Amino acid sequence: MFLFSAILLLTSTLVYAQTNLPPLPDGTQWSAGTSITIDAPIDAVWDVLLDWEKYAEWNPFVRGQTLANEFFIPASVEDRTLDALKAAGSSLEGQRLILTVQIPPLPLPVDENTPSNLLHSQISFENITAMQPTQHRMAWRQMMFPDVILSAERWSALSRTGFLGLETLYESREGYGGALAGTLQALYGVGLQEAFDAQGVALKSRVEGS
Ligand SMILES: *[C@@H]1O[C@H](CO)[C@@H](O)[C@H](O)[C@H]1NC(C)=O
Repeated sequence: MFLFSAILLLTSTLVYAQTNLPPLPDGTQWSAGTSITIDAPIDAVWDVLLDWEKYAEWNPFVRGQTLANEFFIPASVEDRTLDALKAAGSSLEGQRLILTVQIPPLPLPVDENTPSNLLHSQISFENITAMQPTQHRMAWRQMMFPDVILSAERWSALSRTGFLGLETLYESREGYGGALAGTLQALYGVGLQEAFDAQGVALKSRVEGS
């Protein structure tokens, strides 16, 4: 009986502890994030996560995610396709992203024609800090403010879970630090958390529905 309970405890601890996200950096004051299990193999989820040009078709939070060079000039359309991004792999690190986001998120479901709520629209300029296809992880960090003012790095990570590892755990989290972190939380903390949750739900239905 004791052994059985111990095994149960160990198993649930292992399941609970599953994460492919790196630890939050020192100086993080708060974070927003989500995790959700998707009933699809990891590579199918990765392809949807990396296909930034198609985000508008399903993503209620990040309505646009455009690859750009270090001067924030968008890459050519050919260089922004899923195949090109896959081929580029880790060489995407140090390139930039122009994000158009909705905080709080748009109501689900959305498609590419869903109008933005202009009151909730923001643009963010980011540096791609990690692109790790074999580890199924990617990250970008805001570049509009120096770190002492606001540090914000968003990681997204996938890992195999479920029976025979045929399902996928999607996790995404952004940690915030710096002098403005508290103000950001007061203004956008609830909306950002809603946005992460909505993106998780929408990614799941995008992948499982296709
Ligand atoms: C952008 O990210 C890359 C990869 O982590 C890093 O080497 C580079 O220094 C960063 N650039 C800026 C301007 O922060």
